[in-house]
Amino acid sequence: MKISKIKLEAVSSTQDYAKRLAAEGAPEGTVVVARIQERGRGRLGRRWLSPEGGLWFSLILRPSCAPARVSGLTLLAAVSVTEAINAKTSVNAGIKWPNDILIGGKKLGGILTEMTAAMNVVDYVVLGVGLNVNVETAEFPHDLLMPATSLKEETGRESDLDEILDAIMDNLTRDYGLFVGHFNDVMSRWKALSIVLGREVIVSQPGKRITGTAFDIDGDGALLVSDDQGATHIVHAGDLSILR
Ligand code: BTN
Repeated sequence: MKISKIKLEAVSSTQDYAKRLAAEGAPEGTVVVARIQERGRGRLGRRWLSPEGGLWFSLILRPSCAPARVSGLTLLAAVSVTEAINAKTSVNAGIKWPNDILIGGKKLGGILTEMTAAMNVVDYVVLGVGLNVNVETAEFPHDLLMPATSLKEETGRESDLDEILDAIMDNLTRDYGLFVGHFNDVMSRWKALSIVLGREVIVSQPGKRITGTAFDIDGDGALLVSDDQGATHIVHAGDLSILR
């Protein structure tokens, strides 16, 4: 995959910008990166604060796979991004299923995957990554769902945004090549970075709550949770909190 970067100052959302480009036929490997997003979006339609100092980008991919496989790409991206951060800095970031990147229980970043498909084949995927690199999370509003942190706060120094982006793109390019044929290897790395497996969790879904122990992830990227009665729940989507 050849990477070509489009750098913007301020944009509503790199996600929407990249989706427009993808719909117009932009090739796989096109990355839209912005200094500021005015209306950054998170998962489940939530807002995503995107001040100057963070790394906000969206990558266009065109995997030839069925739409059902795309959740695997989110997990793959979480591995690529988390490993890049850990390699480039002294932090020990982990992954909270499905796509949160955490340090010490605080959210450092997240991944938003959106796709368009026709006739059960993916046309394009836009993989959005948001990372609090040099931002001051003390300036974030207090009503956030989860406490936030930044690389600057964790390491005590500023990181070079271009260097972090390049390290992530190198990893993503390599790991995307493993998506077909070697996905199990990527999943083993996901498990090694997971802060969820073996923990007691609550999964909230519209009209439903599941409490139990998260014990594995399946080949589709669903979280397997076993409850007190010994039943296994296959969780494809939802909000997860770690009880202990
Ligand atoms: C989440 O954890 O809810 C996912 C957050 C994804 C944020 C990124 S920042 C770049 C891209 N543009 C957006 O509007 N959102 C994603």
